[in-house]
Order: sequence, then structure tokens, then C-alpha cells
Amino acid sequence: MESFPVIRMRRNRKDDWNRRLIAQHELTVNDLIWPIFVKEEAGVEEINSMPGQFRVGLDGLVQYVKEAVELGIPAIALFPVIPDNKKDSIGTEALNSNNVICQAAKLLKEAYPNVGLIGDVALDPYTDHGHDGILVNGYVDNDESVRVLVQQALILAKSGIDVVAPSDMMDGRIFAIRTALDKENLHNTRIMSYAAKYASSYYGPFRDALNSSERLKGDKKTYQMDPANSDEALREVELDIKEGADMIMIKPGLPYLDIVQRVKTKFSIPTFAYQVSGEYSMMMASFEKGWLNPDEVIIETLLAFKRGGCDGILTYFAVDAARKIQSKE
Ligand code: PBG
Repeated sequence: MESFPVIRMRRNRKDDWNRRLIAQHELTVNDLIWPIFVKEEAGVEEINSMPGQFRVGLDGLVQYVKEAVELGIPAIALFPVIPDNKKDSIGTEALNSNNVICQAAKLLKEAYPNVGLIGDVALDPYTDHGHDGILVNGYVDNDESVRVLVQQALILAKSGIDVVAPSDMMDGRIFAIRTALDKENLHNTRIMSYAAKYASSYYGPFRDALNSSERLKGDKKTYQMDPANSDEALREVELDIKEGADMIMIKPGLPYLDIVQRVKTKFSIPTFAYQVSGEYSMMMASFEKGWLNPDEVIIETLLAFKRGGCDGILTYFAVDAARKIQSKE
């Protein structure tokens, strides 16, 4: 008879060695991508709504990243903080081959040649209206935006970015970027597509980090996905794979693990999730109040991403998590 009392599920939980032996999923440092905010002017400023995360000046960047490299974090995702006087309606600064991200990429590649650099492809940090693409009559024009995003991707790749990560949600941009990269012999520049990116309110603190929250006119619902949908995410992912994506990103993270699981199960492609700013801020607020214990909750949460099917997680907790993982060994 295959039930109690012959079967006792608690037997395998009795001892630590037994629990370790049967553990199905594990979080390692190799699963982590650390996002950082880079600015041109010197100095480091903490982001109000994201305690423990900073806008880092180019002068201190190499030093700032050192611990992450020493901990063995495989890749870093760079996001630019652009001063108001360099923002315009078409995101011109995104196409400046000496912009803050290009400079950051060069500095980091030189200092840490073995660390993967991921560069966001989207115009929102550079536009005065805060949208990811080009506005034509108040609507983010798809094809016009793709033309600019392709140029942005090329500039990033040429400055040393290993992985271009389009987070703009325009249609057809993966194929356009892949074709343009290949034409310039940048065959090994990888594309991590934010294939299923939702129009989420969890991005609030990120827009604060970029100083773009007050600027954003309207919302991003005409290009980012409706949180009500999941089948649509599979179509988005399928198209991006056909267009040449090497890796897929789902965003936000924890509230969208159902999407991660469906994508991973269906496509078996390297699948990542972005634990976004709002998820970070919620947890930090609880830690500050003493309501949740960071030492336990951070790792438990990241492990949930792995269990959900992620090959890796882009998280502001990457360095904290790596410290916790490494100090256990
Ligand atoms: C925009 C972009 C956003 C984030 C990453 N890239 C914000 C947005 O779409 O408005 C959010 C990340 C986060 O919240 O941590 N291309």
C-alpha cells in the first residue's frame, strides 16, 4: 500500500545531509546578472526608492564593480542615467558612440575582460518624453523606432557590449538588429531579447533611478504587454527566437513566474527573468522595517526563480546573494 504509514514524506527531510542530497534546484553565483546605473559625472549617489543601489559615476565604476567580479558574478547589465540637457525627443544621445554606456563598456572591458557586459537597447533613458521609441503624432512608431534601435545596438556592440538586450518591445527589432550586426561582422554579439515585457507598475523605482518618472507622458501600454495575458507571451517569444534571439528575458520576475515556466517548458531556450526595481524596493522596505529577514528571503526568492525555470536572474540583489552564497562554502 503506497500511503501512510508505509510512506512518510518527512523521512527525506529529517537531516540536513538528506535535504541537501535530494535538493532539486540550487542557486549559484553563475545564475546572477547585476544591473547597475551609470552616469557621466563623478561621484556616487544612492537612489531614493532603491536603498543600497546607486547611480555610479564613470570615475568610480571600475572600483564599484570589483567586488562583483571577485565574487564570480558572470555578467553585468548597464543602464544609463542621462542629464536632462542631453535628452531630446528622438533620443539623439543614444547614438553617440561616446555616450556614457559606451564609455562604461570600454572601461569595464579593459579592467575585467572576462565579465559579460549586457547593454539595454531602448531609448527611454535618452528621450525627453520617456518612451522607449520615437513618437509620431503621439504614438510610438514601430518601424521608425526600430531603425534607431538598430543603430543603438550597433554602437553598443562596437564599444564592447557582449550582449545587446532590446527591452523596447517593438515588433521585428530582433531580426533587424541581428541582420545589422551580422552585416558588420559582429556575429558573436549575442541578443538577449526582452520578449515578454509587461506594462508593469513595478518599474516605478527604476524610472526614479533614471530621473524619468516625471517625464513619462502617458504609459507604455501600446508596446509593453498587458499583465492579463500569457498566451501572447508565448507568441512573442516564438517570434523572437525565429528572428534570432539567443536568450529570452521575462519581466517583471516573481509575479510572472508562470510565464517563465511556460516559456522554458515550451522552447527550451536560455530563459531569464528580471527581478525589477519594484520587487527590490518592496523587499528592501520590509527589511528596513524588520518585517522580513533579508538573510533568508533574498535567497529563497531567487531560488523560486530557478524552480520556476530560469537559467539566471537579473537582480539588484546579485551582489548580496553572491556574498551569501560564497560565505556558506
Ligand atoms: C526601459 C526599461 C525599464 C526597465 C528596464 N528597462 C523601464 C520601463 O520599461 O519603463 C525597468 C527595470 C526595473 O524596474 O528594474 N527600457
